[in-house]
Amino acid sequence: MAASWSQPVARWPSRGGVTGAGVEFTSPATDCTPAGRVAETTGSVGAVSELARDQRPQPWTDGAAGYAAQFERYTGLYADAALARLGVGPGTTVLDVAAGTGMVTRKALALGAHVVATDFSEGMLRALGASSAGAAPPRAAMDAGRLAVATGSVDVTVSMFGVIFVPDPVGTVSELRRATRPGGAVGVGTWWAEGNHLGALVIQAVQRAAPGFSRPPLEPARAALAQPDGLAETLVASGLAEVEVHPERQLWRFDDPEAYFLAMPSWSPTIEPLVAAAGPEQFRTAAHHFAALVAECSSADGLPVDALVGIGRVPA
Ligand SMILES: C[S@@+](CC[C@H](N)C(=O)[O-])C[C@H]1O[C@@H](n2cnc3c(N)ncnc32)[C@H](O)[C@@H]1O
Repeated sequence: MAASWSQPVARWPSRGGVTGAGVEFTSPATDCTPAGRVAETTGSVGAVSELARDQRPQPWTDGAAGYAAQFERYTGLYADAALARLGVGPGTTVLDVAAGTGMVTRKALALGAHVVATDFSEGMLRALGASSAGAAPPRAAMDAGRLAVATGSVDVTVSMFGVIFVPDPVGTVSELRRATRPGGAVGVGTWWAEGNHLGALVIQAVQRAAPGFSRPPLEPARAALAQPDGLAETLVASGLAEVEVHPERQLWRFDDPEAYFLAMPSWSPTIEPLVAAAGPEQFRTAAHHFAALVAECSSADGLPVDALVGIGRVPA
């Protein structure tokens, strides 16, 4: 059965039991289908072989201030829906993994939850502390794959746009499960390859400025997380039950798309290597193309950017 935009796009186990990776889903209609769409949209559950720049803590620390200024306002758009699906409310104990500069943490605190924020980047955690109104929440530097927390110690563990960077997604989500009490919930947010217009437009802009530029393919384990059934499969393989993957569309508004594009390498360890690959001059030219593409592909309300939120329950 194909799922619609408002329903989960993958649900495991299905009524007939776990059925494998063949869960059907439909992509939402989009008003702009960029030719430069990221091509590598398939993958399989597994682990990556070599650490990339965005899989090490120091580049995130170096970019923490820029991330807080430029990007958390966009990732934060998806936090409310994720926290609602996870049932976070007054008194819920929440572990925020790969918390970054703290949008999810702050929103959970505002709901009355008790939150511990973790990230492998000390700089991100410093920025998180600095941005907290009132007393900063408890926070601790730790790798998402080796959480220094007691087994079954929280009601909810959430990682928005963090597991997409880890070298071993199944091992990491298994750690998220271990930290969560039986009956508790685990949530993982990723970008949906088919609807990640931001990523597609960035690549297309660079390709227009630097013909012949091609982005290296994503490692299969990372590519899998960008697909509903790959994300569901990862959560199931991590020992979670009642797994559902929900699409979340948000409309992004840019005050100055060209300035936004030019600033990206200063805070994004993912984008920085693109500058080296394309050439700095070409990257500056690409900023004009990016602004034009954003204008072309946005509605009056903004640029649609789709994420996936995978939710699973820890078996009792
Ligand atoms: C795109 S940011 C997301 C931050 C935040 N969750 C949000 O929604 O804005 C990715 C974060 O993952 C963190 N990160 C990447 N790999 C990690 C790992 N193996 N362990 C812990 N944190 C990691 C980075 O330091 C960065 O803060």
